[in-house]
Formats: sequence, C-alpha cells, structure tokens
Amino acid sequence: MSKELGRVDPISGCYKSKPKSTVRNDCATACCSQVSLCYSLCMSARLLDGLKIRDQIFEELKVEVRELVAKSVRPGLAAVLVGENPASQLYVKSKITACEQLGLASWLHTPSADVSTEQLLKLVRNLNVDYEVDGILVQLPLPAQVDAKRILEAVDPVKDVDGLHPVNLGKLVSNRPGPVACTPAGCMELLRRYQIPLEGANAVVLGRSDMVGKPMALLLMHANATVTICHSKTRDLPEVVRRADIVVAAMGKAGYVQPDWIRPGAAVIDVGTNKVTDPAEAARLLRNFPERLEKFRTKGSVLLGDVHPDALQIAGALTPVPGGVGPMTITMLMSNTVKAARLRRLPNAAVAGN
Ligand code: GUN
Repeated sequence: MSKELGRVDPISGCYKSKPKSTVRNDCATACCSQVSLCYSLCMSARLLDGLKIRDQIFEELKVEVRELVAKSVRPGLAAVLVGENPASQLYVKSKITACEQLGLASWLHTPSADVSTEQLLKLVRNLNVDYEVDGILVQLPLPAQVDAKRILEAVDPVKDVDGLHPVNLGKLVSNRPGPVACTPAGCMELLRRYQIPLEGANAVVLGRSDMVGKPMALLLMHANATVTICHSKTRDLPEVVRRADIVVAAMGKAGYVQPDWIRPGAAVIDVGTNKVTDPAEAARLLRNFPERLEKFRTKGSVLLGDVHPDALQIAGALTPVPGGVGPMTITMLMSNTVKAARLRRLPNAAVAGN
C-alpha cells in the first residue's frame, strides 16, 4: 500500500490529515464514528460532470450563434470521415448532431477507405476555399496509405478547429491565441469551471500524443502548474503519479492507473474511452461496481477509462467515463468552430478573450 494511502484511517476510512490538495470536500479532515456514513461522505470523489458543463457551454454558444446569424454569419463545420471505422462513425455523427443542436451548418464528406493522399488533399483544398466552411475536421485515425501529417498540414490554419496544424501547435507552444486541440481544451474547461486550483499544482500527464498529451501539458504549464509528462518508458510511474495534485490519464489502456497511485484528494481527469469486452477484465475492474458489472453482462461490453474505477474512493475530484471528458471534446469543437467563424468573417468585431 502506498505511503499516501497510509494516511487513511484503516477503521473508518477517513483521512487522518487533510490531503494537500484542496479539491476534496471538508469532511476529509473530520473522522466520523459511523463508518458507512463516513464512507459515503468522505470516500467518493466529486464528479466533474462533462454533460452538465457541455449543457452550460451549449447555452452560451447558442446565444453567440444567434448573434452571428443576425449578422448573416452562420458558422459551418465540414467533417471528413474516411472509411467505415465504427468508432469514428459514431464520433463524427455526434459532432454533426451537435452542429444541428446549435444551429451550425455542417457538411459530411465520406471518402472510401482506399482514398489516396492526393485525393484527400484535393478535398481539403476545396474546403479551404469554400467561404461557407469555417471549420474543417478530418477525423483520425486515417488509413495507413494516407499521409496524415500532410493532410493535417493542408488544412488552412484559420479553419483548423482541431488545433492540429503545426502553425496552431506552434502558437500553443508560445502561448499565443489560436485554436487548441479539442480534448485538452475540454479538460482545461472542466478544471476551470470546477475551480480546481492549477497554479503551483503538480500535474502529471500520462501519454504524449500530439492530440492530447502534448497540448494538455502545455496548457497546464501555461496555467502555472508544474508539469510532468509520462509515457511507456517512464521509470517508477506509480511514484511519479503519487506526487500529482492533478492526474491526466490519456494512454488508452483500460483501468491502467491504479487507485493506490492516486494521491488522496487529487483531481483525476480520465481521457480514456476503452470498450472492454473481455468478461474477466470487466469483472476485475468492476469488482466494486456490481450494477455496472451486471450491465456489462447484459450488453457484452462496457466503456471504461484509463483510470481504475476504484480511484473514485481516493481522488478528490474525478471525470466519469462515460460522461466526463467525452462530451467536452465535442463541445470544444463547436466552440472552436463558432470562434473561427467570427474571427474569419467578422474580423473587426471586438470580443473579449480573443
Ligand atoms: N479521433 C479521436 N479524437 C479525435 C479528435 O479530437 N479529432 C480528430 N480529428 N480525430 C479524432
């Protein structure tokens, strides 16, 4: 058992001392005599509800879209979905549905799985010069024969609502305004709206992808956190994670981050969305969640994050899977598209924050 877990009273399950992080509710300091009451009061993380924050931001965006439409600007997103990857189809469908909910125009392009790099470049260039298109989203991953880097580089940076163009990544590095990749932007928005303190916090990011890990680390660094990026070659990973006030798990392995790696009271952002179909794995990870396990048995699969579900009893705040980071990714795509429309089509309109 970890040193950190040693701070939990073994009888009551309450903390003996207040954890360093301040995100846990006040009950962490006081031990109650009723163990079961204490367990339910103290031992469950505050849930960072991505669905709730999505709804809030959608209401804000609807107002902004109405204002833009009144000025004859209807923001529009063009999505490019190559092939028939079921997960990608589901993601893109959700993105188009979100556009419809907010009153954005949307176009879906579906080249076949055997499309060439040149054919895809031609499509992207056409979208670049289409006045009605404010944002271009090329759903990843692309098939192996396509040079994904060339495709992402071909997107006009002002229409790059995914924030993956090297120009926009460069802006992020140097803390200049520009579109930021949607998943890390969504994680930051969750942390901000739940008022998780970042300044001076130790943040550990697990995973170093261009789409999540790297931009996430940069955003946390710009918010004055002290950031450590971990990856498959990191030594003593549990010990590194134990020092974190904020953990962002984005390595794509179901339940990989163990509960005893989590510092009591830490904020845990779980970016993983892993479809688990193996009954033994589901039984192992959901041993303390009989209702979810029952659902797995009926359905044959369950969506689990990169963090072991039992971390709920240790963390101070945690994003659920599903319903945490996932809805925020789509929300930030919508936000980036509305912003791209305003900046490109009404460049002289002064708006705070840009
Ligand atoms: N595939 C999974 N997540 C994303 C994303 O945020 N953007 C794109 N373009 N593809 C993805």
